[in-house]
Amino acid sequence: NTYDFGLVGLGVMGRNFILNVADNGFTAFGNDLDEEKVNALIAEGGNTDKVNATTDAAEFVAGLTSPRKIMLLVPAGKVVDIVIDSLLPHLDKGDIIIDGGNSFFTDTDRREAYLKEKGINFFGAGVSGGAKGARKGPSIMPGGSREAYQYVKPIFEAVSAKYNGEPCVTYLGPKSAGNYVKMVHNGIEYGLMQLTSEIYDLLKKAGNLTNEELHETYAQWNAGRLQSFLVEITSEIFEQKDELSDGHLVDKILDKAKQKGTGKWTSQNAMDLGIPVPTIDVAVSMREISALKDERIKADELYDRPNVESVVKASLVSKAEQALYFAFIITYAQGMHQLADASKEYGYELELGEIAKIWRAGCIIRAALLADITEAFQADESLQNLLLSPSFVEKVKETVGAARELVAFGAANGIPLPGLSNALTYFDAYTSSRLPLNLIQAQRDYFGSHTYERLDRDGIFHTEWEE
Ligand code: 6PG
Repeated sequence: NTYDFGLVGLGVMGRNFILNVADNGFTAFGNDLDEEKVNALIAEGGNTDKVNATTDAAEFVAGLTSPRKIMLLVPAGKVVDIVIDSLLPHLDKGDIIIDGGNSFFTDTDRREAYLKEKGINFFGAGVSGGAKGARKGPSIMPGGSREAYQYVKPIFEAVSAKYNGEPCVTYLGPKSAGNYVKMVHNGIEYGLMQLTSEIYDLLKKAGNLTNEELHETYAQWNAGRLQSFLVEITSEIFEQKDELSDGHLVDKILDKAKQKGTGKWTSQNAMDLGIPVPTIDVAVSMREISALKDERIKADELYDRPNVESVVKASLVSKAEQALYFAFIITYAQGMHQLADASKEYGYELELGEIAKIWRAGCIIRAALLADITEAFQADESLQNLLLSPSFVEKVKETVGAARELVAFGAANGIPLPGLSNALTYFDAYTSSRLPLNLIQAQRDYFGSHTYERLDRDGIFHTEWEE
């Protein structure tokens, strides 16, 4: 018996993905060193002609149709290299390995080059949507050889999420294009999560909204232009009762956010390329500040905090909706901008309209807004920034006023709104034809003869500043 698709790593994601493949009419073979996981998949698959699994790498590879399509869903890092090396002796030229994890993009480039020498096609394919997405339809972001993609395409298109019948997967570009796009997806994810959480803080502290009201508010928002996976689950989170004690679970959860690195990589690489993504940067910083719980407790005792002024609930909720919408737009704008510049730097030839399109369903950052973003980039493939798109100018003009009011309110009342205020500052700076950085140039020239350019004539200038 030979199988259409192979998958290494039968954790929750892997098991769900392989069952999804089988649901869509393909036969699938799983591989994991852990016998329990192998047996669990065989039991859940129900029919070994359709879904089977083994602990033996040689048997696994021999059981796949040619060219072999082998997806890895194992933790990013060294494990990926170990698995690749365990498969290699059994593979033939033309076989395809697809890394479905959140691998760092330069690791993908290294692996692609290493495997190319051996005649093996390597794909880095980000998969988003969590365990449920893997089972029911994720968004898949593959990068690698365009020629080899034809073999993977029918399976990926069948298992992916659908938006109005269109699959949420497409060939994105060569080398690590897929991992890079998934990394920036996660950077945007960090930004949106930070924003939804600080708006919750504001609604709770200034509007005194109860968990029931927060549930209602986010549910209403999710029925409108803020419709998105993250707003939807946020609404559901506020409903969840605690099983271990009275009250709601959300109030019992320790306020220290963990991270696995993809948001940080997005920020780090944006810095390397000179692309401003401050809303994503601050989302990473806030996870770091959150981790300093003990220090925060000490510092809280040392400083007074203004009493939070109570405000009319309905008006606060309405302004919060506008501000959140504004800041979501800015976050996507920053992420898309990063993709555009990285594409030039790394030769990915990304089509931003296609990326927004495959994010409309299945992934964690799916949102009604992505349909508008898709249209904006389809209307103008060379759009440099979403803020320059005529359709977005209207949306931003309508909501920026609320963002200003809430940022001012947060500052006056000691409620940290770093995502929102950063989004606003980014907007104000990006839309300023004149910034005060002429002074920085003057300072640089003053103390270090670093030279400057002038507004009124061409050339490079240096002044002997009078001390
Ligand atoms: C997805 C997610 C996923 C990521 C988690 C956790 O698209 O399905 O991005 O890939 O691993 O969101 O990320 P952190 O642990 O860094 O928050």
